[in-house]
Amino acid sequence: MTDTPTIDGAEVRAVAIDGPAGSGKSSVSKDVARRLGFGYLDTGAAYRALAWHVLNRGADTADADAVLAAVADFDFAISLDPDDYWVRVGDALVTEAIRDPRVSGAVSGVARVPAVRESVNALFRSLVAEADVPGVIVEGRDITTVVFPDAPVRILLTAAPEVRAARRSAEVTTQDAAAVAAALHQRDAADSKVVDFLTAAPGVTVVDSTELDFAQTVEAVLAVVGEGTGAR
Ligand code: DC
Repeated sequence: MTDTPTIDGAEVRAVAIDGPAGSGKSSVSKDVARRLGFGYLDTGAAYRALAWHVLNRGADTADADAVLAAVADFDFAISLDPDDYWVRVGDALVTEAIRDPRVSGAVSGVARVPAVRESVNALFRSLVAEADVPGVIVEGRDITTVVFPDAPVRILLTAAPEVRAARRSAEVTTQDAAAVAAALHQRDAADSKVVDFLTAAPGVTVVDSTELDFAQTVEAVLAVVGEGTGAR
């Protein structure tokens, strides 16, 4: 049995990782979780799943009232297992569908509604509190500042904009590189009006992955987690 990582005697629950799209946040967080025997919570998936749900109802995510109406019957479930990741809305398995450019283009509309943010944040805190693991790597945009500002480890994972665009276009095969880069920059601009995920809040450690490959980024994040918690 491995020892539960602790900090000042308290059990570590959340490791908070924020960053923009294409910083490598999701794949790095998943791998770090796997390496530590932690859970992995992709908070962007909740916003994406809600955007999918709004579109699925034939509504427009630019319409805040339609978004709020959709929240009322949003039956969302997500796996915290980094080796078995899935996302559901009701009976629909939407793991792949929420990555569609149609959803990516609509998601900022749901993420800017304050009542949506409050409701998903409460859900994130209870998912972490109830998770049957020593800790959970929670990744998003406002995790270090709003959702878990007291987490023992808080990281901002960044990369230069052109590197992020190149990584994202390697992932999205249904659009050309220029369209992917334009969509990414447009979404960053819209999202950064809601939460500032491009500058680190006090006490947040920056890991810049511009010059790092995937394995090096995972190592850099593990080192910060290790310093903060003793988990390795
Ligand atoms: O990380 P991602 O690209 O899957 O996130 C999808 C959208 O959700 C993104 O446009 C910003 C928003 N988001 C947010 O506002 N706050 C979070 N904690 C996570 C994501």
